[in-house]
Amino acid sequence: MSKIVFSGVQPSGVLHIGNYLGAINNWVNITNKAEQGDKFIFSVVDLHAITVHQNPEDLKKSIYKTVATYLACGLNCEADNTTLFVQSTVKEHAELAWILSCNTSIGWLNRMTQYKSKTEGNKERECLGLYSYPVLMAADILLYGAHIVTVGEDQVQHLELTRDIAEKMNSIYKKPLFTVPKYELASDAKRIMSLKDGLSKMSKSDKDDSSRINLDDTADMIAKKIKKAATDSITGIYAAEGRTAVNNLIAIFASFSGLSSEQVSAKYQACQTSVFKNDLTELLTSKLNPIAKTIAELEGDKGTLDKIIKNGQQKASQIASQNMQNLKQSIGLY
Ligand code: ADP
Ligand code: TRP
Repeated sequence: MSKIVFSGVQPSGVLHIGNYLGAINNWVNITNKAEQGDKFIFSVVDLHAITVHQNPEDLKKSIYKTVATYLACGLNCEADNTTLFVQSTVKEHAELAWILSCNTSIGWLNRMTQYKSKTEGNKERECLGLYSYPVLMAADILLYGAHIVTVGEDQVQHLELTRDIAEKMNSIYKKPLFTVPKYELASDAKRIMSLKDGLSKMSKSDKDDSSRINLDDTADMIAKKIKKAATDSITGIYAAEGRTAVNNLIAIFASFSGLSSEQVSAKYQACQTSVFKNDLTELLTSKLNPIAKTIAELEGDKGTLDKIIKNGQQKASQIASQNMQNLKQSIGLY
């Protein structure tokens, strides 16, 4: 049976290798394995980004940069089966989020951990949008009738909420209003950790830029960050329980080289850390520099990016408006 796949990333900063391995590269792999009738919809979810304050100029730049990044990573938005669009250009997302919010219990939202982690100790950040953000995410997915959502591990909780909302509404209205989506995780890069401690997730929101490798880092920056990346005092580079920082570097090496963690461990277990780090730097540079170059070229060509965004808006709106009309009719709205 043909399937609809949906995913999105927030334009809230430069994307890093966690976003690449956990999300975008996985999207490219899925589109490469397309079967007849499959549809792929990828969004730059800018409405999500404003759940924390964004400087307007920076946000706009980030939207362009994220579109450029999707393309530079290999998404082909010209393919008939692939849609790349900016969330705020399709008004039905906000409209559906409202309808879903009327069917989402507060108890469910209270269990979402991201709200707590993003507001911890920061009263000013507590706003309704950040709290109800998982409902907007559910709307993104349910609006297109997605069967599969490809995400990193941190988003699984939101996918479970999406399924709960869809099932609840299907049951209350006694109609199959929504497809109940499944999630798919990147097989070996579900959770790339910070280069600094191996215990927290690599994230755009980490204040310390050296905790992550950004997709547009220069060769020099990659070398410096990898050189300073945390390891441990055990001799040899091999994966083992408790070696969180080393396991993370091995996972990054494995994902970019196509080797398994075992193969990487076997290759470097008798090596000095510096040898492994030099090879990792070389590998990352060779994979990321072409992406960085394309991002820069595309960012300089706003005309082309605007055309791509317009085209994506048309493709996404067509599906969204039809599905929204059907839903409104089914639930008795005018
Ligand atoms: P961030 O936490 O850096 O702000 P987002 O929340 O915008 O990233 O995540 C965008 C996508 O990238 C999601 O699918 C998310 O699961 C994935 N992702 C983010 N960070 C990582 C990571 N460190 N490892 C694997 N996947 C990640
Ligand atoms: N919440 C996701 C994140 O922070 C981004 C996102 C928004 C998303 N809507 C989505 C991911 C729909 C998958 C599907 O990473």
